Amino acid sequence: MADEAQTVQVRITDKRLIAEDICMFELQPLAGGELPPFTPGAHLGVRVPNGETRKYSLCNDPAETERYVIAVKKEHGGRGGSVSLIEQAQIGDEIAITAPRNDFELKPGPASYIFIAGGIGITPIRAMIQHLLATRAKPFKLYYFTRTPEMMAFREEFSGPEFRGKVVIHHDGGDPDKAYDLWPVLEEPKGAHLYCCGPRGLMEAVRDMTGHWSSSAVHFEDFGAAKARPEDNTPFTVKLARSGESFDVPVDKSILEVLREAGKALPSSCESGTCGTCRTKLVSGEADHRDLALSEHEKARNIMICVSRAKSSELVLDL
Ligand code: FES
Repeated sequence: MADEAQTVQVRITDKRLIAEDICMFELQPLAGGELPPFTPGAHLGVRVPNGETRKYSLCNDPAETERYVIAVKKEHGGRGGSVSLIEQAQIGDEIAITAPRNDFELKPGPASYIFIAGGIGITPIRAMIQHLLATRAKPFKLYYFTRTPEMMAFREEFSGPEFRGKVVIHHDGGDPDKAYDLWPVLEEPKGAHLYCCGPRGLMEAVRDMTGHWSSSAVHFEDFGAAKARPEDNTPFTVKLARSGESFDVPVDKSILEVLREAGKALPSSCESGTCGTCRTKLVSGEADHRDLALSEHEKARNIMICVSRAKSSELVLDL
């Protein structure tokens, strides 16, 4: 990450299965009192028992200052962080977390909010909805998609009377032909802001359907679970137009990582291609755009260097 976050010790005070392969954890300060505050859409870094650190969105109401709640999906094909947390961490254990930070902020001001959640992508959106309900700020509508009802976290809650008319729930059974048709929802922006979190395919479909929206009204959150594997990458060279320096970008590193290792101070935040912080001007070369931050017309002259790569053998950046 761009900066070292403050570390806090907390205790696991509750742990329970809330859907198939999804476990909810409640974390409280060791000696009672208050935790560092958070805003809707924020996430924590959690040091899981196998020693790795993973990001998890906070899904409780930000007004609750005495606890953090996260929901973790067991990723069987993942890097082991979620399996370690779910299988090894127990109620009463002390764990280290980094204080909340937010790359998916709920911006005030729009006429209404549209939330689109796929699977475990509901977690930051639940905190946003809790906040909107508590503050009665603005109307919202949630579109919540999971493969099956059993895989739906907070199923009872979102099926309850409080959410009648505010929530659309859809299960596609894993069949893309049964995906919910979002076009009627997204065809006219109507002054709304859109927040989408879920699998890469869902976010790309939403990005494609919102090309005519203002880019400042469309927000994505991605924790990089779908990050490209090195075997899907090819190496290339990146040249810095201002200094004339050239660097090789290998298959297992991003442009951002290579330039940082060379001592360049470059801003970043999400490092998953969603927040827009690492946007860099592209002078020449053909980019392989893998972000969700740039609109189609912005892609000709810009690149998000945390995730995007090259189709040509060289990219020249305005750095
Ligand atoms: Fe967020 Fe690159 S750091 S898009």
